[in-house]
Amino acid sequence: MQRAAGGGGPGWLRDLTRTKPVDQIVAEGGHGEGGELKRSMGLLQLTMFSVGATLGTGIFVVLGEAVPLSGPAIVVSFVLAGLTALFSALSYAELAGTIPVSGSSYSYTYATLGELVAWVCGWCLLLEYAVSVSAVAVGWGQYLNELADKTIGVTIPAALSSPPGGGGVVNVPAVAVVLLATFLLLRGTSESATANTVMVFLKVGVLVFFCVVAFIAFRAGNLTPFAPLGIAGISAAGSKVFFSYIGFDAASTAGEEARNPRRDLPLAILLSLGIVTLLYVAVGLAAVAAQPWREFEGAEASLAMVLDEAAGVPWPSAVLSLGAVIAIASVVLTVLYGQTRILFAMARDGLIPRIFMRVSPRTAVPAANTVIVAAFVSLLAALVPLGRLADATSIGTLFAFALVNVGVMVLRRTRPEMPRSFRAPLFPVTPLLGVGFCVYLMIRLDVATWTVFVLWMLVGLAAYFAYGRRHSRLRRAEAAAGERA
Ligand code: ALA
Repeated sequence: MQRAAGGGGPGWLRDLTRTKPVDQIVAEGGHGEGGELKRSMGLLQLTMFSVGATLGTGIFVVLGEAVPLSGPAIVVSFVLAGLTALFSALSYAELAGTIPVSGSSYSYTYATLGELVAWVCGWCLLLEYAVSVSAVAVGWGQYLNELADKTIGVTIPAALSSPPGGGGVVNVPAVAVVLLATFLLLRGTSESATANTVMVFLKVGVLVFFCVVAFIAFRAGNLTPFAPLGIAGISAAGSKVFFSYIGFDAASTAGEEARNPRRDLPLAILLSLGIVTLLYVAVGLAAVAAQPWREFEGAEASLAMVLDEAAGVPWPSAVLSLGAVIAIASVVLTVLYGQTRILFAMARDGLIPRIFMRVSPRTAVPAANTVIVAAFVSLLAALVPLGRLADATSIGTLFAFALVNVGVMVLRRTRPEMPRSFRAPLFPVTPLLGVGFCVYLMIRLDVATWTVFVLWMLVGLAAYFAYGRRHSRLRRAEAAAGERA
């Protein structure tokens, strides 16, 4: 077995750059305190899991905000954002096939870039997962209101459906969907995976339904001029719709509950990205062909608006709103699950308290972990506006993606002989492009987002030095080995 390795240089530096042996990470997979996670997920469930985590607020809400920036060329913007995701997806696929555990990029960086970077990555994943669940839950509440309005003519008053600063006091629907997902997750993984698979089929069906109705109203004239705002418009819209791709990596948090992770994880990640890209391009094209692009400006629930115009009767848009409510709920379910499994891996390494790795013997679920995460997510969803949460999600995700791309390059150098069930093609061009795209999109985010990010990182570093470093199992094991020697 490979020994834990630190970088060269002074002791404190070796301490912080100590990597966890890949073989040890894999050997520990699945084990928690009080029980083991159950290997119940096959390729279909894993792919549906990633699609479930991806298809949501982005296509139902953010599309409408991006069309005014690009015009009909929104289709190209989706391809651009999809390409950005693809480079990182290739790196995720390679690492997920090599280190098939539940910690996703946190585990990959621990194996390649050392403990401190792994901690930073895990801390960023709290933005990609926990904070994004809050953002998505807020979006769900808006669609619930839309649906209630369309079907029974009732809406929840702003005071109870918006956060302070957004015209309300507390966002009750957002909290409700988080609690619903928590209830499902506490019942067990295979039940949640089945519920998710059903929801994914439903939401793909609803988007295909949208395409069919919108294509009936196809007007070629709506597509010219195709790119009225040029390349700048296309790329601005591309960075906005990047949010809609976040989540394709979710299968990599289920490595320890997959039946055949080495074969299925890389496939699930790439398949899910392919499926959502095709759907996004089709929905984008159908939307701008049915409705003049300028009419998207300021419109809420824009896909419903397109259907209202295209069909001339209200029921298709009511069906779509119902689909959106289901779609967004399944994002909440899968991303919440992903967060608990990342924390599970961090607790096993001693970097956060052990309560996060305690598995309920009855349901084989990390129950306390799930409840704590749900409480944190509910608090944010109740009190913070959507825009702030979404931007924080993007910056954390991009940083974690960049680290995964670097991790692939490091592992190819340090462990070239390891069996890899998938290898990123054109190495090192694809991971280098992956890093480049991530950094580029990060730079394009605003100062307020960067301020939140820097503060978040400072709190994270303080937590690492106050707790994680002192309780690190790897560090303790080495110290014990040193004493024996
Ligand atoms: N990609 C996820 C969504 O669009 C975050 O809801």
